[in-house]
Amino acid sequence: MAMPGRSREVESSQEGVHPRLDSLLKRHIDSEWSQPLHAPSVAAFRLLESIMDGRSEQVILDSGCGTGESTRLMAEAMPDCIVVGVDKSSARLARTGATSFPHREGNAIWLRAELASFWRLALEAGWHLQRHYLLYPNPWPKPGALQRRWHAHPVFPDMLRLGGRLEMRCNWEPYALEFAVAASRLLGVHVRPRQLAGQAAGPKAAARDPCLSPFERKYRNSGHRLYSVVVSCDSSAVK
Ligand SMILES: C[S@@+](CC[C@H](N)C(=O)[O-])C[C@H]1O[C@@H](n2cnc3c(N)ncnc32)[C@H](O)[C@@H]1O
Repeated sequence: MAMPGRSREVESSQEGVHPRLDSLLKRHIDSEWSQPLHAPSVAAFRLLESIMDGRSEQVILDSGCGTGESTRLMAEAMPDCIVVGVDKSSARLARTGATSFPHREGNAIWLRAELASFWRLALEAGWHLQRHYLLYPNPWPKPGALQRRWHAHPVFPDMLRLGGRLEMRCNWEPYALEFAVAASRLLGVHVRPRQLAGQAAGPKAAARDPCLSPFERKYRNSGHRLYSVVVSCDSSAVK
């Protein structure tokens, strides 16, 4: 039984990298994805551009920012950059304290949008990211849900084309392994997941890997193993 206040580990019949990941990646590389853009996200993106003072450089993207706490932390830590937190959930974004979006506070901006459209719009608009965070994306652990995981989604090549230092964190090892395999394959590099230092590793080690978001805090407090995949999307062209 789940302990109150503790989060259950991801359960799945899948162990390791999904056997269909490779063929799916090949399909995404060989064919262009042309699904129409999500209209409300297009409108939201246009409004976002109007409050960015023409700055599409020095941008940090917090994709799937949830309650926006991580966006605020990043904006404080990197005052020379604009940090854009994007999430589709109005309930989660409302926890920023704002009532309409986009909402700007200093160098932090929150936007309600669908990421698969948002990433394509940002790419079309010529954005080149400094950093991109994808913190604790929904893992979709059922083997049949492979295509819902971001690295197996047809938008993944465009997400990588946004450039910058990309960091994905999650609490399910197969997701981290697959993300590393997919990014390596598309960028022609070799990256591997790293396990983040948990509380048991002591305060020094924990300080090396500070907690970045509310989900991370919950998982750390529940004793989960956490993984990070970091990849530079600038060094080579996306296949
Ligand atoms: C598990 S939560 C993690 C939230 C936050 N990053 C954190 O670590 O605390 C995943 C978030 O991704 C958002 N999300 C999932 N799919 C999305 C999509 N297609 N477009 C925009 N946001 C999405 C959800 O609404 C949710 O807030």
